[in-house]
Amino acid sequence: MNEKTYSDWYNYSISDSDDFWLEKAKEFISWSEEPTIGQEGSMSERNYSWFSDGKLNVSYNCIDRHVNNGRGNHNAIIWEGNDENSLTITYDELLINVSKFSNLLKAQGIKKGEKVCIYMPMIPEAIYAMLACARIGAVHTVVFGGFSSEALVSRILDSECVAIITADVIKRGNKTIPLKKKVDEAIEKCPTVSTIITVSTYTEFSQTTKYDIDYNTAVILMSDICEPLPMNSEDPLFILYTSGSTGKPKGVLHTTGGYILYASITHKYIFDYHTNEVYWCTADIGWITGHSYVVYGPLANGATTLVFEGVPTFPTPARYWEIVDKHEVNIIYSTPTTIRSLMAQGDEYVQSTSRKSLRILGSVGEPINPEAWRWYSKVIGRNTCPIMDTWWQTETGGIAISPLPCSSNLKPGFATQPFFGITPVIINEEGEELFGETEGILVLKGSWPGQLRSLYNDKERFAETYLNKYPGYYLTGDGVKRDSDGALAITGRIDDTLNISGRLLGTAEIESALILHKDVSEAAAVATSHPVKGWSISSFVTLNNGTEEKPRLKEELVDIVSREIGSYAKPDKIYCVESLPKTRSGKIMRRIIREISNGNISGFGDTSTLSNPEAVGQIIRKLGLES
Ligand code: WTA
Repeated sequence: MNEKTYSDWYNYSISDSDDFWLEKAKEFISWSEEPTIGQEGSMSERNYSWFSDGKLNVSYNCIDRHVNNGRGNHNAIIWEGNDENSLTITYDELLINVSKFSNLLKAQGIKKGEKVCIYMPMIPEAIYAMLACARIGAVHTVVFGGFSSEALVSRILDSECVAIITADVIKRGNKTIPLKKKVDEAIEKCPTVSTIITVSTYTEFSQTTKYDIDYNTAVILMSDICEPLPMNSEDPLFILYTSGSTGKPKGVLHTTGGYILYASITHKYIFDYHTNEVYWCTADIGWITGHSYVVYGPLANGATTLVFEGVPTFPTPARYWEIVDKHEVNIIYSTPTTIRSLMAQGDEYVQSTSRKSLRILGSVGEPINPEAWRWYSKVIGRNTCPIMDTWWQTETGGIAISPLPCSSNLKPGFATQPFFGITPVIINEEGEELFGETEGILVLKGSWPGQLRSLYNDKERFAETYLNKYPGYYLTGDGVKRDSDGALAITGRIDDTLNISGRLLGTAEIESALILHKDVSEAAAVATSHPVKGWSISSFVTLNNGTEEKPRLKEELVDIVSREIGSYAKPDKIYCVESLPKTRSGKIMRRIIREISNGNISGFGDTSTLSNPEAVGQIIRKLGLES
């Protein structure tokens, strides 16, 4: 593709959206019944669908059709283990493994439409599990292995899962995390679950609950033939939880036809994937990036997807670049946090490797600062690889704003231009469209096939969060600026969510955990600028009347956050303060607290509207910021 083709196709995708997408649907996807309808409904109606008369199976599209096309001996997965062992799985082998796993699920009585929780490390069986669900029409909800048992429970309850697929442990660097133990702690609170399938990789299987099935012994008894079930295009494919501005995570619901088309077409064009190339997305399958760009997009395109079990710094910070050389990776897709943390280790870890196979670099999850962008380009990419700074969200299903490898307008910090079918619009608080060089709120006009269809079991919250505030638009919750060339740069979240190391967390989620402590009365969590993570969490708590700050209070609070959410959500700093600044209507003014935690002690505007303006000075003194 060249820039002319991009702009022709882009214009076509907007002016004749249905024709464009129906053409692409036929080109990219094998349907058991081809769709004749593009989009129906609209965002204003809070109901929209894509390809509603089409039928297909996602697992068939990710496996069988490549085997049928004579590419069964092509590598589907290259797995690189934590301990530097590796494994390749061809499309023929993937078909066998997924079919057997599907039959195992069926043998447990799991049916079309039922929900299955996948709580797994980055091992091939995690991908077999996702594809097996898709093959039999079960709806998976993958829960990131770093989440705590409590967080697992709330997701299982919300999505009404009937089964859990898990593993004995997660190995990451020198750490071994007991995963099945966390499931055992959760299970008593999950009345809908009647099956737990455990893949034991590092330890002997041992039955600890009446629901346990040993994957290794059960799966060998299964037939390796399982017909993929044709699904309606709008049947649910998966639910994936993401943090929102209020306490409870949102169960983002994606359906079948639109999602798989959008994941595959974006993967193909944005990474310019060519047959026989090795493509590596470093995300965990517990996040949307892992869904769309480790599993569904690349496998639908018949690509070789590299799956890495470990961490970037084990055994040394050269690990990523050694993997690139070992497997001759052509395309790598990672996060600004990882890039910054490896940059901080020094160039010698990179220079000891060649990386000559690399052709394209990708970035996702948070704004990439120009310094990290330049290092990625110069040191990792030897000034020869374009960087795709891809902006998107769990809700968009796939990349929505990104350059293409043919783009001549790459700029550090800019995601630049919309993908086909995406109409980004910049508005102000009042909802008025802003033109030219400007900065404001990012909304998207018109639907695209990968768009979330709803929040599971909560159409009201779905409409409230994304559609009602600015009718006719999808509200992203991000700020954006446009430069004089029309290039777009995402500036960060504008709602009460924090982006820590590229992972969203709700301030309310953290605060709800903190106030579970018996001494804590109120809590505020804000983002403080951090050189590697982008942002870190600072928490401010007030204590119940008459309570003194106990010496172990902060440790106890950190433990509560780890227990309720997971250790990645631990605040870096916790301050005990006399009071939190509040509006007269009682709302905590997080904006002011955030400014102070970032070292700014003036310019908050009029603080006289606060019911307790003295709280501002108290916090400033607490942080030792007063001159
Ligand atoms: C942020 C991850 C700047 C943004 C795929 C978005 C980015 C949130 C970028 C979604 C980028 C993602 N530049 N910010 N290239 N990519 N974000 O749902 O704030 O985990 O709204 O999906 O990450 O996070 P989510």
